Amino acid sequence: MGTLSTTFTGLEFVNPFVLASAPPTESKRKILKAFEAGWGGVVTKTIGLHPVENVAGPKTIFQRSSEEKPYVSRTKRPDTVSHSSWNWELISDQALELWLPDLEEIKTTYPDRMLIASIMAGAGGEEEMNNWKKLATACVNVGCDALELNLSCPHMDRKDMGAHIANDEDIIRSILKAVTSVVSVPIWVKLTPATSTLVDAAGAAYEAGASSISLCNTFPSLPLMDPETLKFEVEVDGLVTSGGLGGLAILPQALQRVSDIHRAYPDKAISGIGGIRGFREAFNFIVHGAGNLQVCTAAMEEKGSGGVGVKLIQELTQDLSAYLDRKGYGSIEEFRGLARERIVEHSQVRRKSETYNGGFEVSAEAS
Ligand SMILES: Cc1cc2nc3c(=O)[nH]c(=O)nc-3n(C[C@H](O)[C@H](O)[C@H](O)COP(=O)(O)O)c2cc1C
Repeated sequence: MGTLSTTFTGLEFVNPFVLASAPPTESKRKILKAFEAGWGGVVTKTIGLHPVENVAGPKTIFQRSSEEKPYVSRTKRPDTVSHSSWNWELISDQALELWLPDLEEIKTTYPDRMLIASIMAGAGGEEEMNNWKKLATACVNVGCDALELNLSCPHMDRKDMGAHIANDEDIIRSILKAVTSVVSVPIWVKLTPATSTLVDAAGAAYEAGASSISLCNTFPSLPLMDPETLKFEVEVDGLVTSGGLGGLAILPQALQRVSDIHRAYPDKAISGIGGIRGFREAFNFIVHGAGNLQVCTAAMEEKGSGGVGVKLIQELTQDLSAYLDRKGYGSIEEFRGLARERIVEHSQVRRKSETYNGGFEVSAEAS
């Protein structure tokens, strides 16, 4: 019988499925419900120190497509399937002081589940580094098992925050230096997929003490405009800004980025995120090297479960368990990284004029 439990960044997970930093993990109530439903861990909605006020309109929309009329829209139509989420929600508007007793209670209630605090501050000098230290120390002191540093929010105006700093390896190093100087729990670093220097950014983070890279945050994107009304599908007073795309639409792009990092640093940990709706997507992240899986959009879209994916976590664990048994794997570690050798340079793929030589021998041996 295969086991669902995994050791990831030194932490014991009862199963590798984690709710990502987002509305499903925005409150004590939701996190307790998620643990009751069976999630192996949660990354809290990102906690910061600066005041947060969201836009005067919907923060998230769910875009759907259908076979009959295959355009992407949030408009309710019969027989549609999920395409993506689009959001321009800021980080948590709950203050750190209010989060701390909640985090403590959650950890005491579910000591065997992993509680990871997502935190974010700026990078514009000593004061901001002290903010990282303050957030890190406070969350660890109340029992958080790990921290996830949000270096990836796609809709920040501040140039020293979120996705803006993902291209700057010096800033990544300074933030890790600040955080690792005050806490000794595993540090996960959540990067943005929207950079051409992702592998270097991941390398800088690992080198500076990150235990894992979490990837992907949402992809910068715009909502669609209706040709008749000339309104964006989400806007406030006719205006919109770049927001983040999540859900199924980003899956193949997220896999490519996880694979890039895994091939560059095969011994390092990666938490895979982006478009996981069930076992097949989770499986694909694992074969590209992820040892932990995070889910957001699919949990939010599940009806009747308060947006924490109650049915989803049951399906994920049942389907993974059945797969391990069917294939005779002891755990996900036995097929993690299975695809690594099969992602090659374009020039290494056989040309039409070349003879078939037996191809790549598929074996169950992985990382
Ligand atoms: C409404 C919404 C809010 C989010 N807020 C955060 C956040 O505060 N911090 C963060 O690191 N990621 C945030 N995310 C990104 C998710 O954690 C996740 O990386 C992304 O949605 C991709 O996963 P998915 O395809 O399963 O949705 C948010 C996503 C959504 C849809």
